[in-house]
Parts: sequence; structure tokens; C-alpha cells
Amino acid sequence: MTVMAKPDHTSARTMAGTPALSPAGIAKPELIGVEQAKALDVARITDLFKAHLNPGQLHFMKLLGFHKIKIERAEGMFYIDQNGRKILDFFGGFGSLAFGHNHPRILDVRRRFQEEKRQEIAIAFMSQYAAALAHNIAKCSPGGLDMVFLGSSGSEAMEAAVKLAERAAGPKRPKVVYAENSFHGKTKGVLAITDGQLYRADFKVTDNVVRVPFADIEAVERAFRADPEIGAIVLETVQGGGGIIQAPAGYWQRLRALCDQYGVLWVADEVQCGYGRTGRFYAFEHYGVVPDVTALAKSLGGGKAAVGAMIARRDVYMKAYGTPKTAMIHAMATFGGMGEACVTAIEALNVLYDEGLIDNAASTGDYLLQRLRVLKDKYPKIIRDVRGRGFMIGLEFHDFSQTLPMVLRPVVSVLDDKLKGSLSGFIGALLLRDYDVLVAFTEYNRNVIRLEPPLICQREHVDRFVESFDSLLSRGIVAIVKDFVKSQVR
Ligand SMILES: Cc1ncc(COP(=O)(O)O)c(C=O)c1O
Repeated sequence: MTVMAKPDHTSARTMAGTPALSPAGIAKPELIGVEQAKALDVARITDLFKAHLNPGQLHFMKLLGFHKIKIERAEGMFYIDQNGRKILDFFGGFGSLAFGHNHPRILDVRRRFQEEKRQEIAIAFMSQYAAALAHNIAKCSPGGLDMVFLGSSGSEAMEAAVKLAERAAGPKRPKVVYAENSFHGKTKGVLAITDGQLYRADFKVTDNVVRVPFADIEAVERAFRADPEIGAIVLETVQGGGGIIQAPAGYWQRLRALCDQYGVLWVADEVQCGYGRTGRFYAFEHYGVVPDVTALAKSLGGGKAAVGAMIARRDVYMKAYGTPKTAMIHAMATFGGMGEACVTAIEALNVLYDEGLIDNAASTGDYLLQRLRVLKDKYPKIIRDVRGRGFMIGLEFHDFSQTLPMVLRPVVSVLDDKLKGSLSGFIGALLLRDYDVLVAFTEYNRNVIRLEPPLICQREHVDRFVESFDSLLSRGIVAIVKDFVKSQVR
């Protein structure tokens, strides 16, 4: 029998590092088992992270103090670490945890699916699970958004949306309008409409794009009027990575009218702001208008599965892929419509309505906003703005690199640089260290903290968050910075 050994690319490894062949053929490398993985301690995880995942990212974890924490379990609103410490989750995986951690109904449906030995891959045969999930998503979607493409991430859903819009708009209108401070994913296609230098780096992306300021309808009209090759406009309904930015009242109605007038397709990215987060299933529903194409991901997978979806009006979809000849151009990828992911998403949508979580996002989110506005009045020199809707809230601080005493500014500027300009990292790090509360930072605005707690969040959690935040701010910004600096030299 011929044995194919794993190819070696260095002579040194060929000589010394290659494991001996077992009698059965290929030797098993030194692999970590599942139970061993669960039992890894912080030091070993750090080594593996450095060796095989992302050494540079570890730098930020260390600065923020996250590198000392190993999460052992997660339940509802809380992470539980190796010391039994319960961390209140106001980060919510950037909106991926509508149901909190390990919702019992979602766990149960997955367990049953496994025990029944159901099929996973939805390529050869029609999948009852993918079909039912597509039906459910269409039922939650207004205005004839009936056709669903299933993928496994927000980027994939947005790639699908942009491709669909390009085909539906036709070859003479390949250009896409996007907004300043937008975030639509990091894959190569949507990188062209993601407006962050951090992610764009020096990648060569398509130049068939037109950038406009967000929330400026006159700029959109000027762009449409000036360039007949524009076929689509892609916008987050609420900008997440940009720092929780909403357009003024009237913007979306005017956008809809302009799109109709110029025959431009409106693609609404609802990956972060959709799925009930703002108090409606889609954020655009607050404005009484419907886009031509939209996308969901994050909580669509119930916090347990990777599910993304592009949803389009049927006539738009049929233009792009409606014939047998065009149907396979962008049919689902290998992991689109996986069985267990689909049943997870089906159950999650049912839980979303059965537990009234969208209503809870609206009412408890409003309570959170009100309480934060009181804090803004209490600390006018620290908090610059409190904004958002439902459980998608931005807390903007004054740029304290400019307001601190002169002696502290050089230290802050060094740390600020290390934190890649996230001043809010100081506050986030101390909220975690001293109050066991986790919040999210914002890619494009160093002064903004994002609050996107699970939609199961109750008033008692809001009270706990607000009291922690209040207590931290009562130290004053100088003490906060000094505390943070001290934690770095310890
Ligand atoms: C608005 C928006 N679109 C797209 C994406 C990309 O989603 P994913 O990270 O699942 O690829 C994100 C992720 O944060 C997002 O916030």
C-alpha cells in the first residue's frame, strides 16, 4: 500500500519534526481533544492564540485586561469566568445575542435535531428546514420582501445583496452609492463599500462606487442626478460601526422617493440594527418605507448558529436569477441552509415573538435611554451625547485627550495610540475590571461606547448597568485615566 505523508515544506521538518507513521498509515498529529480544549488554562490559551490565531489582537486584549479572563459558561445575560465571576453582557456580540446566551428553547431544538439524526447539507435535495426558514423570514418582512438567500455571515449576506442589485440593475448601471462611516463587512466585494481605512488598508477594491455623507439626502440626489450609471445605494439603516448614527426624520421617505424616481435599487443593511434590536423587526419599519433588498445576520442564528440572509423583493430577485439559466449564478454556498442552523433560526424567530422581545427592546431600551440621559445631565463634562433606539445605543464621551490636565496628556496619548484611538477603551476596561460589566467599542469613533445588550434584558439589568456606570463616572475622568494607567503597570 502506498502511504501519502503530509507534505513538508522545510527540510528541517522532514528530518526532525515529522511524526512516525502508524501501522495503519497516516500518523495522528498531536491534537488537542475537546475535553482538553475546555480545560486549557489562560496561559496556554494565550500561547495558542499567539501561535495560531492573531498575535496582534492579543495586544488589545492585554491593554483592556481581557486576557486574564477565560469564559467557562454563559447563560442569559451573563458570562461566567474561571473564578465564577458573573459578567453582565451589555455588548451582546455586537447584536448577535438577542436571546442572551444559551436560550433553553434554542438548545432544546438543536439537541432534538441531533438525536433524530437529521440531514445537514442542503445542496442535493430540497431542505424542509431551509424552505421553512425562508418562509418565516419572508413572513417577518414587509412590502413583498419575499425571496431569501441563506448564507452563514453578515458579509456573505451583503455580498449576495450587492451582487443581486448589480444584476437586477443591469450592465449599464454597475455603480453603487455607499455612505461615509459605513460598515458592511470585510470580504473583498463589500470592502469597496465599507468606509474604514482600518479595514480597507491597501486592498485593491472596485472603483465602481460613489461615496456620500450619511444622512444627507441632498448628496444622494446630487449623486443620482450626476451619474446615470448608478444602479444601487447601500446603507445601514442605523450605522453601527460608525457610532450608532441615525438619519433625521424624513430621510428614508425621501430616499425611497428618489430611488423610485431614478430607478435606483435601495439595499438596506440590517445586519446589526435589524432583528428587533431597535424595537421593530427591521429598523426601516420605523419610517414606513421598504427597501428593495435587505440583509440580516447576527441574532438570526439564535446566538448558536452562523446564519445570514439576503432578502429581496420578488421582482428584483427574478430579474437577477429568475430563469433556469441564471438560477445557479448565486445559488446557496455549501453551508447555506445547513439543517441545524436553519432549525435554530426557525426556533429563534418563534421565541422572538413568543417572548415579546421586540416589544421589550422598545420599552426597556427606552428606559435605558432615559436613565442614560439623566447621567448625561449629571456628567455634562464627560458625556457628550446619548443616542439610539431600542437596544442599540451609543454613548459618546467628550474627547478627554483634549480636556485632561497637561501632565496626563502624554501618557494618555501613548495609551490612546496603543488602543488604536479608542479612548472609550479606558471606560470599558474599568467597567469590566471593577464592575463586571462588558460593553462594546466602536471602530470609527474613538469616543463612543456601544450598548447592544440581548433583547431579553430586563430593567434590573439596566439598573445594574446604569449604577455601575454612574459609580465609575463619579470618580471623575482624571481618576479614571489614572486607574487605567495603574492597571497597565501592575
Ligand atoms: C451593518 C453590518 N453589516 C455587515 C456586517 C458583517 O457581518 P459579519 O461579521 O457576520 O460578516 C456587520 C458586522 O458587524 C455589520 O455590523
